[in-house]
Amino acid sequence: MPFAHITGWGMSVPEPVLTNDDLSKMVDTNDQWIRERTGIRERHIARENQFPSTLGAEAALKALEVANVQPTDVDLIICATSSPEHIFPATACLIQDLIGADKAGAFDLSAACSGFIYALNMAAQSIRSGSIKTALVIGTETLSRFVNWKDRNTCILFGDGAGAFVLQASERPGGVLSAVMRSDGSGGDLLSIPAGGSRHPATEAAIHAGSQYIHMDGREVFRFATRVMASSTKEALDAAGLTVDQIQHIVPHQANIRIIEAAARGLKLPMDKFVVNLERYGNTSTASIPIATAEAVTSGRIKPGDKLVMVGFGGGLTWGALAAEWTGPLPSERKVKPQKGSALRRARSFLRRVLRFIDGLLSPREL
Ligand code: UT7
Repeated sequence: MPFAHITGWGMSVPEPVLTNDDLSKMVDTNDQWIRERTGIRERHIARENQFPSTLGAEAALKALEVANVQPTDVDLIICATSSPEHIFPATACLIQDLIGADKAGAFDLSAACSGFIYALNMAAQSIRSGSIKTALVIGTETLSRFVNWKDRNTCILFGDGAGAFVLQASERPGGVLSAVMRSDGSGGDLLSIPAGGSRHPATEAAIHAGSQYIHMDGREVFRFATRVMASSTKEALDAAGLTVDQIQHIVPHQANIRIIEAAARGLKLPMDKFVVNLERYGNTSTASIPIATAEAVTSGRIKPGDKLVMVGFGGGLTWGALAAEWTGPLPSERKVKPQKGSALRRARSFLRRVLRFIDGLLSPREL
């Protein structure tokens, strides 16, 4: 049975930064309150022409370059996102087109902020079963478009960005070691975007009521999060046959420093085992774990052979944890060139449309 190794990583955040002081001019809040209650100092906000697909494609191309894998070698793209561009087509398909992953299946996975853990596990299981060899797992968000900028309970928390991993099959032991995925739909109303789906379409009345924005019971989500972070980390470690002393890092969902500190207390671990970067990005939902991991690998903090747990929670309610041994790029003879140039990508997409049109003309019609 092949092992599923994490062999590439990448991230992309939009340049514009929104500081706590900026927010204090928009709602009744201040830098001290936000830093003390959340740990967040600033977050990045997408420009008008940036979307989950464009940020996700940038992160994916970086991850492919690190892994030395061509887009055409990818068998499967799973995009975890809480801010999909459309109900359909899937944001994963938009990314597939942008990067030219011509042989990949692509779908979105909706599990709110736990989505990246779920997606990583699904991709790893597809590799472990032998059905695919190479997967791209992406967490990407422009949640700023679902934030009510007049609601101080939520607008201080979220930021935009994307992170991506490449997973590859190898007979060498290591990679993804275990995972747990859990849910409790009875708490669905604690964190939701009520309108925009088929139950409450985005009608004028729904928009007037602000139901297209994120609604959250912060205190309840906080309580739930502090309960599940430590317990699911322990479950993933048990399933991998590891103890907390045998892991070098925990990469938690970057929602609130107080939630991470509670998890550290629950696991009786020092905070320096936790990778934390929420002060600079806020809560980027599905993107927070791959962005934090990508930064920690790039800075040399996470090294090949290190064992780590990634752990997250979010709307649904959902939560999950995944234990892995970090691999890095697999040895390869060839060198993949970085894919740059949006004009080339647009031309390639246009050519595909033309070819599909010609194919349609040449195919016999069965009426
Ligand atoms: O990916 C999952 C996403 N969600 C989360 O992770 C959210 C988890 N929850 C939290 O992180 C925290 O509950 C919050 C950061 C949202 C709120 O922090 P808190 O310590 O739980 O504050 P609170 O809701 O208990 O409010 C305490 C006080 C209230 O005033 P009163 O009623 O005590 O007079 C709030 O009105 O702080 C007030 N408050 C604020 N004050 C200044 C709430 N938001 C703000 C604000 N600035 N932005």
